[in-house]
Amino acid sequence: MNAITDIARALSTDAGASSIPTSLFGLPEQAPHERVLLAADAQTGLKAILAVHSTARGPAFGGCRLWTYDSELAALNDALRLSQGMSLKNALADLPFGGGKAVIIKPAGDFDRAALFAAFGRAVQSLDGAYITAEDVGTTTADMRGMQGQTSFVSGIPREGAFGGDPSPKTAWGVFVSIRAGVRQVLGRESLEGVRVALQGLGAVGWHLAEFLHQAGAKLLVADIDAAKVARAQERFGAQALAVQDILAADADVLAPNALGAALNAQSIPTLRARLIAGAANNQLATAADGDALQARGITYLPDYLVNAGGIISVAREYRGEGEEAAVMAEVGRIADRVTELLERVKREDSTPARVADAWARAKLVRPA
Ligand code: NAI
Repeated sequence: MNAITDIARALSTDAGASSIPTSLFGLPEQAPHERVLLAADAQTGLKAILAVHSTARGPAFGGCRLWTYDSELAALNDALRLSQGMSLKNALADLPFGGGKAVIIKPAGDFDRAALFAAFGRAVQSLDGAYITAEDVGTTTADMRGMQGQTSFVSGIPREGAFGGDPSPKTAWGVFVSIRAGVRQVLGRESLEGVRVALQGLGAVGWHLAEFLHQAGAKLLVADIDAAKVARAQERFGAQALAVQDILAADADVLAPNALGAALNAQSIPTLRARLIAGAANNQLATAADGDALQARGITYLPDYLVNAGGIISVAREYRGEGEEAAVMAEVGRIADRVTELLERVKREDSTPARVADAWARAKLVRPA
């Protein structure tokens, strides 16, 4: 591991080429991160950023992403944004955990996956419990299991006869109940029967969400860069397939972004037709101003970190050895109550969901009593 040379290299090679504003201690609009570890390991090709935003509520808990980035600064930016998002998510979900996140820059070409995650596990262990990891985009339950020999600060591992494993269905359930609560408030409809929902992304979460929505009678419009998933959704749910570039502006009542971040931006917002947005993707708003722009267009945006907390609720319960399927699903279901409360506050305070949720979460960034 050689953190200092990595920082130096990131700044010297990428700073000029990248327009991403960053500082070593966090992004301009953020409270500074408590710790950011740059972990490199020449033997395995590991280059990872472990960002601990806040431990005010407890150890920082958040997934680990394996991704190809345009630059090291882009990876740093992603880690910092995602990790602050975890602080807000864990606080709003009333979990006794702070916020953190890790990104591993995907090595070019062939690499030994087990060795890479073993090296990452050692980096997690070196933080001595300040950060607990789990899966995220690009990582799997098998990767988490493989790390167990290196660190005990890992969750999301399937265990015979015990609660745990893939958090995606729980995330999808939280998004589903949020859509149901949002539809009630915004569209005044008690049921999802016939409600048109556009799904961007049919991955681990998007697929389960499509299943829940289909069972509830919603009409699905779908897009994914993976044509096989779209074909499967057409067959299984009678979904209408849209081109990837058309899904955000689909003629739908609800839009659910379940791919990567920044789907809601200055280009896409003027084209949107849905009245409600609720999806699993982290960091859906490209900038804070985009939350205001949505409100100005009469579109209700349910903040991602409020509605997609089902997965972290699941891995947090698993980590504490408290998990039991029905109880965890019920806890995830309570996200709907927070959505209802949020929308009531928005009306009372004449504000936007993004601003109210942000203030609500920040007020909870203290150790729970
Ligand atoms: P995934 O990688 O399984 O699924 C993402 C899907 O989006 C893939 O099918 C991919 O082909 C598709 N996709 C990528 N770019 C696209 C585009 N431009 N248009 C349409 N489809 C596109 O990831 P997963 O686990 O389903 O997560 C989805 C999002 O939800 C991510 O942003 C993740 O950070 C977030 N999230 C996931 C949680 C979980 O429990 N898995 C928990 C909380 C957030």
